[in-house]
Amino acid sequence: MYKLQNIYKSYDKEKTFILNDLYFDVNEGDFVAIIGKSGSGKSTLLNILSTIDTPTKGYYIFNDKNLTKLNDNQLAEFRNQSIGVVFQSYHLIEDYTVGENVMLPLMFSNQKKQPNLDGILEKLDILPLKDKRVKILSGGEQQRVSIARAIISNPKMLLADEPTGNLDHENRDNILSILKKLNSEGMTIIVVTHDLEFAKKFNKIYEIKDGKINPVQI
Ligand SMILES: Nc1ncnc2c1ncn2[C@@H]1O[C@H](COP(=O)(O)OP(=O)(O)OP(=O)(O)O)[C@@H](O)[C@H]1O
Ligand SMILES: [Mg+2]
Repeated sequence: MYKLQNIYKSYDKEKTFILNDLYFDVNEGDFVAIIGKSGSGKSTLLNILSTIDTPTKGYYIFNDKNLTKLNDNQLAEFRNQSIGVVFQSYHLIEDYTVGENVMLPLMFSNQKKQPNLDGILEKLDILPLKDKRVKILSGGEQQRVSIARAIISNPKMLLADEPTGNLDHENRDNILSILKKLNSEGMTIIVVTHDLEFAKKFNKIYEIKDGKINPVQI
């Protein structure tokens, strides 16, 4: 589904490389956790997978689409259609309601099909909060709003950066069962986490180290 080859990423004009000749394959239906030390490049890789950022060098292809060849507008269109992103900090608009936040991505896409907003809020167990402003919600509730927003356009792949980073055990388990359900319905899911116990609940675990990513045997 997704193939990365020979990927390099530098933020300092190629003096140092955060990602250094990285190869990574994702298959359709994968349920993957990526671990690695703080600063190892987890968010950097996720930003490249989500096309929010581009690699300094390298080749990456999604199904038959060679992303290396797309310009910013084409990448944005690809992202709107195919990828849902849950950010490390939720990036919600605090003064907007839950419903408004979740619908926001659709304002930037030309998708014609009306989404089932209530169905998605129900799935995330936040339907009763639909008309509440995000700023009054708890951390766990905000995290679920950010997942709802990421899946509103029914993406093929969901990328989540530390989706349980600030949550207690109960909320962590809630998020896990939501991700499992989405995966069982066919969504490919990649999660970044520093929490090894959480990572162990996924079908595959990879570690980023020295600019490369490798499978971890637990
Ligand atoms: N936009 C940027 N400009 C310059 N340096 C950056 C930028 N984004 C990340 N970096 C640097 O790249 C390295 C990897 O950062 P990244 O955010 O990918 O790490 P991470 O593995 O997600 O860490 P954490 O677990 O703390 O979230 C860090 O040294 C960071 O300072
Ligand atoms: Mg990070």
